Amino acid sequence: MTVLILGATSDIGGEIARRLCAGRTVVLCARRVDAIPELPEAAAVHVLPFEATDLASHRDIVEQATAFGPISHAVVCFGILGSQEQAIRDEAHAAEIATIDYTAQVSILTVLADVMRKQPQRSIIYAFSSIAGWRARKANYVYGSTKAGLDAFCQGLMDELHGSSVSLVLARPGFVIGSMTTGMKPAPMSVVPSEVADAVVKQRRSGTVWVPGRLRVLAWVMKLVPRPLWRRMPR
Ligand SMILES: NC(=O)c1ccc[n+]([C@@H]2O[C@H](COP(=O)([O-])OP(=O)(O)OC[C@H]3O[C@@H](n4cnc5c(N)ncnc54)[C@H](OP(=O)(O)O)[C@@H]3O)[C@@H](O)[C@H]2O)c1
Repeated sequence: MTVLILGATSDIGGEIARRLCAGRTVVLCARRVDAIPELPEAAAVHVLPFEATDLASHRDIVEQATAFGPISHAVVCFGILGSQEQAIRDEAHAAEIATIDYTAQVSILTVLADVMRKQPQRSIIYAFSSIAGWRARKANYVYGSTKAGLDAFCQGLMDELHGSSVSLVLARPGFVIGSMTTGMKPAPMSVVPSEVADAVVKQRRSGTVWVPGRLRVLAWVMKLVPRPLWRRMPR
C-alpha cells in the first residue's frame, strides 16, 4: 500500500509522512524535489516532480503513484498564503492564490477520489481547509475565500464518498507556526506542524478536524461578531 504526499516539502505534510511511513511505500510529490523529507522508516521512497498549477498533469501523477501499489493514504498539503497586500491590486497574484489553493485542490481531489474509490481496499484522503475560510477577513480574504470554497467542496465530496471504500478527512487548523507563517506574530491558540499531524492522523473516518480542537468554539463565536466590528479586525 502506498502513501502519497502531494506537496512533500510542506511542514505539515512532512510531519504526516513521518507518522505514516513506517513499513510502507511512500511517494513524495514536490516541486522542490531536492528538499523532500527523509523517511528512514519507509519501506521504499519514490519522488515525483509535481507542479500543482499544471492541472493536466494531475491524473498522470496519481496514476504514476498507483504503479507503486494501491494508495492507502493521500495527503493534499500544497498551498500558498500569498500576499494579501499584493493580491488587492494585482489580479495575477490573486488568481495565483485562487489557482493553487482552490482550483488545483479541486482538480487533484477529484482525481484521487475517482482513482481511490475504484480500489477495493479502504483508503483515506487528507485535505487542508483553515480557520481563514470560516469567515473571510479583510486581512486575508483572498486566501480565506479559497479555503471557504475548498471546505465546501470537501464537505460535498465527503458525502459523495459516503459508503465507498474512501474516507476524506478535512483539517481546519488555526495559525500554524512554520514556513507559511514565517515573520508573522503567532495568533492565539497557535499550534506547530507536529500537532496538526498528530490530530489529523488520529482521525480514521470521514470528518472535519479543528486543530487545536478548542478552536471550534472560537470559530462559532467568530460568526456572531457584527460586521462593523469584524471589519476592524487587524489580522
Ligand atoms: N501554516 C498555517 O498556518 C496553516 C493554517 C491552516 C491551514 N494550512 C494549510 O495546510 C496546508 C499545508 O500547509 P503548511 O503549513 O505545511 O505549508 P508550507 O510548509 O508552507 O508548505 C506548502 C507546500 O505547498 C507547496 N506548493 C506551493 N505551491 C505549489 C505549487 N504551485 N506546486 C506544487 N507545490 C506547491 C510548497 O512547495 P515549495 O516547497 O516548493 O514551496 C510546500 O511544499 C496548506 O493547504 C495550508 O493552506 C496552513
